Amino acid sequence: SALDLQEVHDFLIGIAAKAGDMITSANPTAAGSGTKKNSADLVTETDQAVEKMVSASLRQRFPAFDFMGEETYKPGDRLTDKPTFIVDPIDGTTNFFHGHPYLCVSLGLAVNQEPVVGVIYNPFTRTLYSGIKGKGSFLTDALHDHVRLPLKEPEPMKDLSHCLVTVEWGSDRDGNDYDVKVATFRKLCASKETNGAMVHGIRSLGSAELNLCAVAAGHLDVYWETGCWAWDVCAGWVILEEAGGKMVGAHQGDWEPKVDQRRYMAVRAGEGQKAIIEEFWGCVEGRIE
Ligand code: IPD
Repeated sequence: SALDLQEVHDFLIGIAAKAGDMITSANPTAAGSGTKKNSADLVTETDQAVEKMVSASLRQRFPAFDFMGEETYKPGDRLTDKPTFIVDPIDGTTNFFHGHPYLCVSLGLAVNQEPVVGVIYNPFTRTLYSGIKGKGSFLTDALHDHVRLPLKEPEPMKDLSHCLVTVEWGSDRDGNDYDVKVATFRKLCASKETNGAMVHGIRSLGSAELNLCAVAAGHLDVYWETGCWAWDVCAGWVILEEAGGKMVGAHQGDWEPKVDQRRYMAVRAGEGQKAIIEEFWGCVEGRIE
């Protein structure tokens, strides 16, 4: 039978609520936490427990679908064309660890490696973003009851100097990629007199998925990211594009990014979108390897 994306979406909303309860009732302590590749790459017992609950629920309800999750991913695992749930139990683990309430559970579905359903829930602020390919994306929180994104008619974007930009520092803190990032951040922020783009500001909030949702809503204009994984972008991708936003690659000319390529740029809906993408690509100071 044809894949019923609405049914998947509705089931994911229920799972997000369950995951949210696990996250808000957990108390991340140093004892229940560890690091992966280095001291800036955190994982907690809660990440693992939530992923276990989510994958078990999804396997039971949709046994024919594949599953890819941050905590069970093994290097070399490949995304196939099969319907695949792509899940980050806690996107924003570092924030979670510190008690900073900017994080979410991220539940996506990709078919033919294309994101088609996204559910993103921040249980601390009770903010729910969701989208289905072809059916729009929506926000529900204390002030909005299933309101379609973007939240207002998008203003035209003149150039980067009028943009609020978000980036992430990531957990790799040396080498070529780190140098390219830092030089790019500098150029974006620097005054026109010093050859910079002089953006309104740069934010770095710690959750790739919530960043994508903020661009979808129109709260942020651009998000550039060079180190995240399919589970950090799959759900937000649907929400962004259904809101008229555009997902491209992090480098010049990459108009057709893949969900697992790890380098992206998201730009909100609005006149001037293409010009902003090209202007930003021109500010990237080197190549992320
Ligand atoms: C991280 C966050 C962060 C991004 C990293 C991700 P995690 O996800 O989304 O904003 O810059 O690349 O790994 O580890 O908190 O699930």
